[in-house]
Amino acid sequence: MSAARDSGMTLPSPKRPDAAATDPLVAPDYAAFAAALRASGCRRCALAGARTQIVVDRGNPQAGIMAIGEGPGAQEDLSGRAFVGRAGRVLDDLLRTVGLDPERHLLIANVVKCRPPQNRVPQAAEVAACIPYLRRQIELVQPRVVLLLGATALRHFFPTQKPLVMEREVGRRFTLEAWPGIAFAALYHPAYLLRSPGKKPIALGHLQQLRQQIAAEGRWPE
Ligand code: URA
Repeated sequence: MSAARDSGMTLPSPKRPDAAATDPLVAPDYAAFAAALRASGCRRCALAGARTQIVVDRGNPQAGIMAIGEGPGAQEDLSGRAFVGRAGRVLDDLLRTVGLDPERHLLIANVVKCRPPQNRVPQAAEVAACIPYLRRQIELVQPRVVLLLGATALRHFFPTQKPLVMEREVGRRFTLEAWPGIAFAALYHPAYLLRSPGKKPIALGHLQQLRQQIAAEGRWPE
């Protein structure tokens, strides 16, 4: 028996790293990453000042497909879940039409994790501050397919064209040396489809074409 137990002394329990104290960027797995980021109180950029919650994701981190949007809106900021407002409903409807269950077959995330004021486009400094989190997310999820929703997401991964004309890019599929094994696809942002509902059939066509290609490679979920 130890001297401490003999003397009736209470030993402090061994220190376990709690989520708040863990740097999300060194978290060993996705669950630890997400918990640490939510609890981090991140202040890497000015968006921290007005946010309610850090919005990490929605869906299934074990899924082989990721969808990446721009940044949380009002509903997402309140709920802490990505794409749960009107744009999210548009996205979910499109995904379901091609046989994808948004909660099961995808992990949905954003370029920035905190809501920009008035839903403005995130500024370059905000994207630069936040992007290590998205990159770590992708490393941990190891998706086979990444759907880039709108110009903010596309611009980060496909920086060669300036200015980016989404009409020319949507439907494009590409691979990147930096991310071997991932098929990237550029798609309309669902918020754009809310403003331009006439484009929804085109957006659906892009997803159907992608499903055909990816299924032919055996990479579309059953
Ligand atoms: N728009 C986005 O880009 N992401 C969300 O989570 C919601 C709206």
